[in-house]
Amino acid sequence: MTFFTIKQSGYVKGKLILTGDKSITHRAFIISAITPGKTRINNPAINKDCLYTLQALKRLGIRSVKFKNHITVFGKGLSGLKPTKGPLYVGESATTMRLLAGLLVAQRFNSTLAGGRSLSRRPMGRIIEPLKLMGGDIAAREGKEKKEEFYPPLRIKGRALKGITYKLPVASAQVKSAIILASLYAEGKTKIIEPIKTRDHTERMLKLFGANINVSGRIITIKGKKELISPKVVNIPADISSASFFIVAAILLPGSELLVKSVSLNPCRIGFIKVLRRMGADITFHPASFTLCGSEPQGDILVKSSKLKGTLVKKEEIPSLIDELPILMVAACFAKGKTKFVGVEELRVKETDRINSLVSNLNQMGAKIETKIKRLKSGKRQETVIIKGIKELRGIRAKTFGDHRTAMSLIIAGLKAKGRTTLDDISCIDKSFPGFMKKLKVLLRPRL
Ligand code: S3P
Repeated sequence: MTFFTIKQSGYVKGKLILTGDKSITHRAFIISAITPGKTRINNPAINKDCLYTLQALKRLGIRSVKFKNHITVFGKGLSGLKPTKGPLYVGESATTMRLLAGLLVAQRFNSTLAGGRSLSRRPMGRIIEPLKLMGGDIAAREGKEKKEEFYPPLRIKGRALKGITYKLPVASAQVKSAIILASLYAEGKTKIIEPIKTRDHTERMLKLFGANINVSGRIITIKGKKELISPKVVNIPADISSASFFIVAAILLPGSELLVKSVSLNPCRIGFIKVLRRMGADITFHPASFTLCGSEPQGDILVKSSKLKGTLVKKEEIPSLIDELPILMVAACFAKGKTKFVGVEELRVKETDRINSLVSNLNQMGAKIETKIKRLKSGKRQETVIIKGIKELRGIRAKTFGDHRTAMSLIIAGLKAKGRTTLDDISCIDKSFPGFMKKLKVLLRPRL
């Protein structure tokens, strides 16, 4: 455990340059591995989760070489993976487990995917159902936590697959990507229909690698059995989710001015910027800097401290800001009036129950947050978080619940809180953002 204390601070000033996006890096590693030949990946995310993906691929027979700012993957084509001795351990990375499950279900060998303590409590039924419909054979641990749910480890028997038409019951890019990866091996066509559009990095990356994939709104169609072609180089834009903590710090701390350089501006990921601007945040895009980075849009944004007002965040917006909800909840604590986040129930099944981790800590700091549950006509549970803005938070002994995004959000809350805030464990931040504290210290200026 790494205890950490943070004091109320002045403001942030400067330029923020970050390493590559975590979601895009996972895809770049996996797709390069099943493509014949060398692919150079520039500016990859080197965090715990992405390293688990690389390590798993290594055990499946894929060599990669790490240089200062790039990684070269030596791919072996669709059927080049080899069986492993013993289970593949993927730490706490759900993206690694769910995406690799889609790949492994179609191989000519059997495999087991196992995870750490928190991942072992995350639902896997959502990928097992569609992959089984494709002809896959996956066994998992049946739920003590919740009846009719399935949890890791996943025991996968490689099978020949067939294409399906599948309506996703949850808006999840991990589930969508697992099906897409399986469909590359499937006989015939696979059609996926999303309830709400989620991050489309897999689709974009596969287009770059010459796959037979077509996207029309919320419908994705893939024709399998086509060998991919390496574009030779894949560039990864900076991680917008990592940037979100600094963006909110700059908004909340008076006198701040922050330039975020070459960051991913994929429309499926910048929902939190739209919400913050609606709340009155001074965030400007620099169109002159907009370019395509590989298959992804990127550009610079300038953020200045601002006064916020409450807003309504509709459930249709949630997938585009799912990972930024914790830091948006911190921002909403300082907005004038009420902010409502509708349809946030997916937060219950992240690295920790993020509704609980944020509400319990922030309310202890003096915030005014309540949650409401509604049963919809469809039978689904819908949760809403309602935050009434206040003037000030106070420092406390906070618990991160071993969750990186809870930890980083509470650190930003601590910068605005009166007195000191002590976090019980910040080592979890390395899951997505090693070096977070170092970057923050460089940008933070003392109180005037
Ligand atoms: C991710 C998808 C999202 C997100 C996660 C990364 C991805 O999860 O919360 O951090 O890379 O596909 P869900 O698919 O569970 O919504």
